[in-house]
Amino acid sequence: MSAVLPGPRLSAAVQTALYWASPRRTVRRWQAAYGDVIGATVHPMGQVVFLCRAGDIKDLMRADPATFRAGAANAALGGSSSTFSLLTADGPQHTNARALLMPAFHGRAVRAQVEYMAEITDTNMATWPVGRPFALHRYTKEIALDVILRVVMGIGPDRLAEVRAAMLQLSRTESAVELALGSPVLARLLPYARRRERHLADSHRLLQEIIAAHRDDPALDQRVDALALLVGARGEDGKPLSDREIEEQLITLLVAGYETTAAGLAWTFEQLVRTPSVLAKAASAADTDDDEYLDALVKESLRLRTVVPDLSRMAMTDVEFAGHRIAAGSILTPCLDVVHESPSLFGDAGVLRPERFLEDKAANWLPFGGGIRRCLGATFALVEMRTVIKQMLRRFSFSATSAADERFVRRHITSEPGRGAMVTVQARAAVAAAR
Ligand code: HEM
Repeated sequence: MSAVLPGPRLSAAVQTALYWASPRRTVRRWQAAYGDVIGATVHPMGQVVFLCRAGDIKDLMRADPATFRAGAANAALGGSSSTFSLLTADGPQHTNARALLMPAFHGRAVRAQVEYMAEITDTNMATWPVGRPFALHRYTKEIALDVILRVVMGIGPDRLAEVRAAMLQLSRTESAVELALGSPVLARLLPYARRRERHLADSHRLLQEIIAAHRDDPALDQRVDALALLVGARGEDGKPLSDREIEEQLITLLVAGYETTAAGLAWTFEQLVRTPSVLAKAASAADTDDDEYLDALVKESLRLRTVVPDLSRMAMTDVEFAGHRIAAGSILTPCLDVVHESPSLFGDAGVLRPERFLEDKAANWLPFGGGIRRCLGATFALVEMRTVIKQMLRRFSFSATSAADERFVRRHITSEPGRGAMVTVQARAAVAAAR
């Protein structure tokens, strides 16, 4: 059992600067130099233990959640100490919130939304520029946001444009700099701070209005959206949840649900246009409703481009883990992307090859994490990605490109394509006529 973790011996300031300049490259360099368990010091997390071995990551996901807390770690990372949000809650508060929200994201509820997902994609595609290169990510964000607004808050077509604009505005004004500063006081000095506060106040007003409308809805018990579940819920004291609790939960669901799915969709096409043989198979699968192939494509895309590259757990006591002594307060960080890109686990790991998910069950496929904190929206996201990709491939032909892979850019917790997933599309009917 080693007491001192292998890792860089540079000053904390230099380690922090190296990490935030490029989390992806830095962890890989440290892994090459120090192995699969690395101790480093990175502000604002403090002592961080990066885990790069699939076995250790699975052990951590199965470990006692009271010893390794996800909520405490997420709160330390995001600078928030709210216990109302699913992401920052631990213990019974987390278990109760999960049980309450689960029905909105599972089985029947998800299947009921497929038609609507396809409809949203069709409406959005009507606005795409045809015949010239454009950044697809902008559009996948709109689609994913429209879908989640419906499922989370029951927003129908009449208010969609207004609510979507407010939410996009809000997420655009956030910045990785703020996250890295980890300080609301310093963040207030940033040049756009006043504009951000105005956007926050506007979206707060809008959310309060939507919550009030739900509370007054005589048909509340027939609604299936997450907000209806939250409004109908009673706490341990038998009282309804406060507007503040509901609002925090809503924002968590919106952010966790839309930026991730939008990035997953953008990466899928960024890779498809660079792999013409898979693009052709995927287009034919879309035409023939071959969901098995499309599901394999979605899984492979989430492997090759891991949208949430790492997770966080806080060690609540001094503890032995992965052959090392870990100090209380350390943040353990499973590096999911390192596992997904490992040749020893996936062979031709750098290649987009959906067939690998038709062949086996992929024991080391972890894009949604695992254990009691596994992504609440995993089933939902997989169905949404398959449905949206199918609609896109049915309507447009995507031109192949020999451009270099887009770089990985970190935004909040997600990894996104650096140029926004540049593509060029032609209407399928036009392509057929020109042949
Ligand atoms: C491709 C899309 C998505 C990816 C890659 C993704 C990834 C993840 C990952 C890796 C976690 C685990 C975090 C941890 O263990 O600390 C997570 C948690 C979570 N995700 Fe997703 N997610 C996606 C879509 C969604 C959607 C559509 C929703 C729906 C609202 C959602 C809601 C959540 C929530 C609420 C949690 C917290 C669960 C908990 O702490 O119990 N996600 N997600």
